[in-house]
Amino acid sequence: MSFLAELYRSLDEDSLWVLMVIEQGLKEHEYVPVRIISRRSKIPPKRLDQILSFLNEMKLIKRRTGYEVGYTLTFLGMDMLAINALVKKGVIEALGDRVGVGKESYIYEALTPEGSRVALKLHRVGRRSFKKTALLRPYILERDTKDWLSESKLSAQREFRALEELSRYTQNVPRPIGYNRHAVVTSFIDGLELYKVNSLTDPLNVLESIVSVVDIAFNRVGIVHGDLSEYNIIIEYPEERPLIIDWPQYFYREHPSAIDMLKRDVYYVVRYFNKKFKTQVEWRSIVDKIISGSSKTPKL
Ligand SMILES: Nc1ncnc2c1ncn2[C@@H]1O[C@H](COP(=O)(O)OP(=O)(O)OP(=O)(O)O)[C@@H](O)[C@H]1O
Ligand SMILES: [Mg+2]
Repeated sequence: MSFLAELYRSLDEDSLWVLMVIEQGLKEHEYVPVRIISRRSKIPPKRLDQILSFLNEMKLIKRRTGYEVGYTLTFLGMDMLAINALVKKGVIEALGDRVGVGKESYIYEALTPEGSRVALKLHRVGRRSFKKTALLRPYILERDTKDWLSESKLSAQREFRALEELSRYTQNVPRPIGYNRHAVVTSFIDGLELYKVNSLTDPLNVLESIVSVVDIAFNRVGIVHGDLSEYNIIIEYPEERPLIIDWPQYFYREHPSAIDMLKRDVYYVVRYFNKKFKTQVEWRSIVDKIISGSSKTPKL
């Protein structure tokens, strides 16, 4: 069992309740004072102390001492709340291994109550880029953890909504199943990331499917992926169907940089195919064709 699954199983209802009370309290406090947690949770002080020590030890919350002892939620704490909500809503039933680590997320395998395999993406916006920036500009450290938590929630929401819209027109993106806080659940793609694929039966056909998703995104949904590359495309076998993943950074078609991003996305993929699979495709004409189709009404 994964560390996350084991951690989740170790939490009783009271511990989850305390996490929720702290999460609520973060709306008004950077660190929620213990007296407020105590009042709102209605858990007797001795028992509450035990719970807080346990949660703190497991790194689900972070303590601040000083004038008044208080707690804030960590990403791990929010992971537990999101997993709990998804379990209670019947979106997932069991959590499996970690299958991927992105720059700004962790991806786990999970099972629905019906036994289908799904992917759980836990967004973690700003964590790494923040650490790098903080080295150069220490004053940024003053930013609250809760800002990263809420940015991660926004990122998950953006990704879920984009996938919902895209899925209406194409099967070449993961199917969205549910989301909560910073967690998005989608269909599981059992395949190989494009950068690991050494040969394709019909590379041109695969490239066309990818381009059709870019076209649909732009002309039907009104967005540009913005980070398209061989790392964000998974090839499913045996059909060799490409699925485009990782959408939270999308740009609206109206954004001043959208056309540049569209060019970048198409250029990267076409260049990759031409080099690796020896196709001979001209990226500019693809971009022109996509742009000239832009009379349709976007949805997002
Ligand atoms: N639906 C899915 N099914 C199976 N594996 C997946 C799925 N979604 C993501 N993965 C795996 O997790 C990895 C990271 O996913 P994703 O690109 O969405 O995260 P990310 O944090 O945005 O990545 P990065 O910013 O590094 O590109 C993927 O490369 C893939 O291996
Ligand atoms: Mg990615």
